[in-house]
Amino acid sequence: MKQDLIVILDLGSTQNTVIARQIRDLGVYSEIHPHDITVDEVKALKNVKGIILNGGENRVVDGQEVEVRTELYDLGIPMLSVDYPQSKCEKKLSSLPDQETLKQFIFEECGVEANWNMKNFIEDQVELIRQQVGDRKVLLALSGGVDSSVVAAMLIKAIGQQLVCVHVNHGLMRKNESESVVKVFRDELHANLIYVDASERFLGKLENVADPEQKRKTIGGEFIRVFEEEARKLEGIDFLGQGTIYPDIIESGTKTAKMVKSHHNVGGLPEDLKFELVEPLKQLFKDEVRACGVELGLPHDMVYRQPFPGPGLGVRCLGAITRDRLEAVRESDAILREEFARAGLDKKVWQYFTVVPDFKSVGMKNNARVFEYMVIIRAINTIDAMTASIEKVDWDVLERITERILAEVGNVNRVCYDMSPKPPATIEFE
Ligand code: XMP
Repeated sequence: MKQDLIVILDLGSTQNTVIARQIRDLGVYSEIHPHDITVDEVKALKNVKGIILNGGENRVVDGQEVEVRTELYDLGIPMLSVDYPQSKCEKKLSSLPDQETLKQFIFEECGVEANWNMKNFIEDQVELIRQQVGDRKVLLALSGGVDSSVVAAMLIKAIGQQLVCVHVNHGLMRKNESESVVKVFRDELHANLIYVDASERFLGKLENVADPEQKRKTIGGEFIRVFEEEARKLEGIDFLGQGTIYPDIIESGTKTAKMVKSHHNVGGLPEDLKFELVEPLKQLFKDEVRACGVELGLPHDMVYRQPFPGPGLGVRCLGAITRDRLEAVRESDAILREEFARAGLDKKVWQYFTVVPDFKSVGMKNNARVFEYMVIIRAINTIDAMTASIEKVDWDVLERITERILAEVGNVNRVCYDMSPKPPATIEFE
């Protein structure tokens, strides 16, 4: 392994990621592991140069008081205790460590080198993937989103043609999105890519499904079925690549985490389709995933794209999806993205998209009364998607977008701008 490692043990504190980030900001790789990690597991991590016990206020994980294994203290690895009254530790702190304390612990007590960078991370992961996979095959659902794209690029680097990518076009992708996945991965990176156009099948399943949770479940469930069918056609696949990133682990990891919206990934495959997981990004924060993608040579647009929900435009074509409204969402979204890019807003605004509700309003076109749909524009800024504020988009830009949508998108006679912050609104409408 190229990189020295500082391990943070999760004793229920909400500050683990803050400490991990602080350490990575010092150029040192840091990972968070469960409190009950065994000595063998610590040894298997190789290069562990220091352990931080971070208990928070009450050392409670999922409602249970927790302890670390006492054998860890005999490993001879320096330990730093934060809010954790354990006398065997070499050092105790009663609040979050500041940068100076961390530096002293990491560089002086643990003797760590500041060698955390993407190049080394990729080299380490490539080696780990090769060790894990050997000469066997990995299957990957390649949505074209940042995470799955970066995993694909990493796996292509590590195992080349032993990776089989499946791109399912569920018909709810943005304009030209599936085409660009095929272009980048099949034509440029020479990936072994299976492209499945399942648009008709998804639209069929979604007919008359109006309830947002039901729509998400239908899309997620159908996605798994299509993917499963493709997986069954292939032979000799032992692994499933997943674009799990660190925030996914914290969001779905604890029993106490509440389900706000059912998230859509490739979990839930049938029992008899057993795969071992390959998750080379699972310790990365989002910005690090992007840096990793750039280092792996992915196009800037693919890596720095705004977030896009798994159910795609399906949750932006409100209520029961109809083809005409889906088309209106897709076309208006393309115009919005084009105009935001022209105004330089694509680099400034965190997420921006259009939504088409399932009702009509009266308008006038060519001197005749029309009863048509409306497009709602939403543009927000946020740090962690938990809260968000709206972007105060320049009126001229909004007017230009409105003119284009009204002129170029069929069945639309009205454009609105959503002024609502999160909370109380969520970012998406469904
Ligand atoms: P909300 O609407 O909950 O969205 O404020 C927060 C962020 O999550 C994105 N989002 C999803 N991402 N699968 C995803 O991968 C999903 O099912 C999903 N639903 C919402 C949303 O676009 C926003 O960035």
